[in-house]
Order: sequence, then structure tokens, then C-alpha cells
Amino acid sequence: MLLDKHGRKVNYLRLAVTDRCNLRCFYCMPEEGINWLGRKELMTYEEMLHISAVLLKMGVEKIRITGGEPFVRKDFMSFLTSLSKLQGLQELTMTTNGVLTAPFVPALKKIGVRSINLSLDTLDRNRFFAITRRDELPRVLETMEALLQHGIAVKLNAVVMEGKNTEDILPLVELTRDLPISVRFIEEMPFNGEGNHYANLTWDHFRILDAIREKFPEIKKVPDPPFSTSYNYQIPGHKGNVGVIAAYTRSFCGTCNRIRLTPQGALQTCLYGDSVLNVRDLMRSGLDEEGLGAAVAKAVWEKEKDGWEAEKKQSVQSRLNASMATIGG
Ligand code: GTP
Ligand code: 5AD
Ligand code: SF4
Repeated sequence: MLLDKHGRKVNYLRLAVTDRCNLRCFYCMPEEGINWLGRKELMTYEEMLHISAVLLKMGVEKIRITGGEPFVRKDFMSFLTSLSKLQGLQELTMTTNGVLTAPFVPALKKIGVRSINLSLDTLDRNRFFAITRRDELPRVLETMEALLQHGIAVKLNAVVMEGKNTEDILPLVELTRDLPISVRFIEEMPFNGEGNHYANLTWDHFRILDAIREKFPEIKKVPDPPFSTSYNYQIPGHKGNVGVIAAYTRSFCGTCNRIRLTPQGALQTCLYGDSVLNVRDLMRSGLDEEGLGAAVAKAVWEKEKDGWEAEKKQSVQSRLNASMATIGG
């Protein structure tokens, strides 16, 4: 079992397979992109499978692949298929912008993927372009439809931004009337690849919920699954539900069960922390499985108690220059 010294059990790996992205969401990265990693810097699929197998033996049960859009990486589906066969994996899932996913939905279903989180901030084509700097809304909607058709659960992630998509809050909530999806509104976090840090977020989870309540006063709280990032609600009679993720104002640290691996093999035991170990380098140095496992266990044991608090106090070296695309959310 992977444990930290604060008594938390780590059983959830977020694995970012690429830092490249086919969108340019302004809150994530600048138009010109970020300094993409070179091919040799990336972990190979073999390396990712190896480290995943080691972690699964140590108690990881759930793996979430994150992008951008993981399908921008060549042969991603074959990698995912191999990953799905590893022993001990109870839940394999993915967070994607959905632009390239639609054709692979039957294959995802076949390998046992039961849910996908789709990043979608607006249902309006012009606003989608204004936010992502790409005209790809139709392809994302196609992916959503395909997922629903194949019975794969969908959570939509919408980052709420003043002047960009606040008029989308209600239309997105409306989607839950007839679709069995979860629409989750996210407070914007200052990971935009440009280092902008704003102390006063204009749309926090209270304001988001108030805006929904105004139109749907009957909205009611529903139970949150264990380790849920969102507070969840439902409008009576609607098929889906609505969630609010207080990504900026609330700490998830107390019940944090996650670790993250970046595409270059950096192990991050906290979203706000720096890399604590590079597993790619350890694997390339020829370290055996036992050594690798021991190094990871030691790093996890030292997992930050409350990285969020430290970030708020600015008492850690800030990662605000980081892009979500490299961290994978
Ligand atoms: P589940 O596996 O369903 O719990 O997914 P999730 O909601 O954790 O994952 P997803 O990739 O959909 O992320 C949704 C939002 O939550 C993104 O904006 C993430 O950046 C944010 N998020 C994920 N993990 C953390 C965390 O540890 N701390 C904070 N503050 N935000 C997080
Ligand atoms: N603030 C909040 N959420 C963000 N995401 C990307 N950048 C940010 C940000 N600055 C979200 C994406 C995706 C998830 C992994 O992280 O919308 O759904
Ligand atoms: Fe947008 Fe996600 Fe790509 Fe960043 S990684 S540009 S948030 S789709």
C-alpha cells in the first residue's frame, strides 16, 4: 500500500501522456504554445507501462490519463489497450478536450473505460473559438454524443471565466435536463503558462451556484462520491447532475489520494508542488523494479500535508508559470 506520513492512502495516479495540445485555451497556454518537450524527454509508452505496473502492485487502483487531448500522441489507443490489461487496475479513465476522441469511442468501450471527463467551456461556436483559439466545437460535441451512445459516463468540465463564458452557465445546466451527464463548473486556477496570478477570483463556487439557483431555485444537493472534487447537485426531474469544483478557493488536501506523473516522468505528489522524483531517469539508469518502487514509496511518504495552504501563503516556490497541459490538471 502507498501511504504518506499524514495517514493518507494513495491509490490514484494521474498520468499526463503529452504536453502538446491541439487547442490553445487562453487560461492554459499562450497562442504560440509552450516549450514542447523533445521526443527523448518524453517517457516512452514502454516506460509508462512499466511504472504503471509498479505503482499498481503498490496499491494504485485508478489511473486517469490526462491531456490536452491524449489522442494527439501517436498510437495512444494501443498504449491504452496495453495499460487496460495491467493487473490491479480497477478504473481506467481519461480527461480530454475531446477533439480527436470520437472515432475511438467504440475501442474505449471495448477495453472497459466506463467514464470520460470532457473539457468544454461553452456550447457556442464563437465563444469556443475565443476561448480555445481553435474552431473545434463540432468535433467535441461529436465525441460527447458518441460516448453517450456507447454508455460511457460523461462529466463535462467548464472553467467559468468572467467576460468569456458566464452566459454559458445556464445552457450547460440545461443539458442535464435530457442527458445523463454531469456538468461541472470549475473555478479558474492560475495555471495559464503565463504566470498571471490574481488574488480575487471573480467567479468562485458561491457565485456560480447563485447564478444557477436564480434560474433553478429547486436545485438540491446530492451526495458526493468519496474523494469527489465537485460538490454535486441536481435539478429535480433532470437526468443529469450539476457539480461545482472549487479548484481555487477550497483545499482538497485533507483527503488527497492522488499522485501525478508528467510526460517527462516527473513525479508530483502535489498539484502545487514541484517534481519530487524523476521516474524516467531512474528507469533509464537501469534501476530494477524493487529500487524504483522503494524510491516512489519514499517520495509518496513525504507527500505535502497541505500544498494548497502553502501556495496561498506563497511559502512554496510558486508553480504559477506552469501550464495545466504539462501538469494534466
Ligand atoms: P475524478 O477522477 O472524477 O475525481 O476527476 P477530477 O475531477 O479530479 O478530474 P478532472 O481531470 O476532470 O479535473 C477537474 C478539475 O479539478 C480540473 O480543473 C483539475 O485541475 C481540478 N483538480 C484535479 N485535481 C485537483 C487537486 O488535487 N487540487 C485542485 N485544487 N484541483 C484539482
Ligand atoms: N483553471 C481551472 N481548470 C483548468 N483546466 C485547465 N486549465 C485550468 C485552469 N487554469 C482544466 C481543464 C480540464 C482539467 C484537466 O483542467 O478544463 O478539464
Ligand atoms: Fe485547453 Fe486543456 Fe489544451 Fe490546455 S491542455 S490548451 S486547457 S484543451
